[in-house]
Amino acid sequence: MNTIKVGLLGLGTVGTGVVRIVEGHHEDLQSQVGSPITIHKILVKDLDKMRNVPVDRSKLTDDPWDIVRDPEIDVIVEVMGGIAGTKEVIWEALERGKHIVTANKDLMALHGPELLAKAHEKGCDILYEASVAGGIPIIRTLIEGFSSDRITKIMGIVNGTTNYILTKMSQEGAAYQEVLKEAQALGYAEADPTSDVEGLDAARKMTILATLGFRATVALEDVDVKGISSVSQEDIWYAKSLGYAVKLLGIAERQDDYISVSVQPTFVKVTHPIASVNGVFNAVYVHGEAVGETMFYGPGAGEMPTATSVVADLVAVIKNMKLGVNGRQANVSYKEKKLKTDRQ
Ligand code: NAP
Ligand code: HSE
Repeated sequence: MNTIKVGLLGLGTVGTGVVRIVEGHHEDLQSQVGSPITIHKILVKDLDKMRNVPVDRSKLTDDPWDIVRDPEIDVIVEVMGGIAGTKEVIWEALERGKHIVTANKDLMALHGPELLAKAHEKGCDILYEASVAGGIPIIRTLIEGFSSDRITKIMGIVNGTTNYILTKMSQEGAAYQEVLKEAQALGYAEADPTSDVEGLDAARKMTILATLGFRATVALEDVDVKGISSVSQEDIWYAKSLGYAVKLLGIAERQDDYISVSVQPTFVKVTHPIASVNGVFNAVYVHGEAVGETMFYGPGAGEMPTATSVVADLVAVIKNMKLGVNGRQANVSYKEKKLKTDRQ
């Protein structure tokens, strides 16, 4: 029974959760995959920083190539964030036949198609469940659960930070900047929270969801984006007085060969289920021609919910390794087909 050796890139909010789950659930994970799983090396920026989880410091490195070039490592879990440098590291790992699990929506929204094509060419998996809606297994659901249907609409709250801010502003009259600081302290916000509050994080997630749901190429430029930085306490109170909640909604719709994708603050009638999705919780509605309306709900950010999705992907990669089927589904959802949008 060979031990599966994992290279972990990042030991921040999500990386800490990954270590906790891989170590805390090791017996259950081993019984599912048939091998012990061990975190062999961990990439960090600052080798001397205090960590929130006990780690063997000899496993820490600040050199990504030390992990990527380690022939003993089978799977790389990327939870460091970033785009260009991170892509280079993942590309080289794929070249070397390593499987990838990532929580990086920025990377997948911008470079998903080429990374998936590379993974397919090398017979590797690249799984990214944690990149959208934290602990809700929405990517797997879109790829597998709805494979029999034609999805016409995906709508939801896909950013935990902004939903946390809007909820606290609405329920407690809290000040925007104060709640943003709280969301950062809780590990919900991105390293640069501008991408949360200006809607870019949600737009990247909607790009991924629309691509998978509509089985076509949807680009970030196809998304109309407006964030919540200009939403005032007065807007929220005005909405309330009319029976509405203000929510940052992502909406992707498809009609024949035409799609529209947007992210914007929206008045949602308080009687609509999405109006009661509060705090860091996310919800995604999926409408399929055959199934009709479905809704998926759960924590959208934070250490343990996000790590749950990351480690579930790790389990899936290892199961595929045992079956010798890695890379088989890599390209399935990224077709060359380009749909028309009103932004072209
Ligand atoms: P984070 O707390 O800022 O942690 C990033 C980790 O990566 C840190 O350990 C940092 O090292 C390390 N790191 C970053 N750049 C590095 C570099 N150039 N070289 C070496 N180490 C580097 O970030 P996070 O919140 O865990 O998020 C990680 C990823 O998951 C991002 O892509 C994010 O979008 C995604 N994600 C986050 C959440 C969430 O709720 N936080 C949810 C879903 C997806 P140091 O510790 O030494 O600084
Ligand atoms: N910053 C992101 C959010 C993390 O608040 O939703 C989860 O992707």
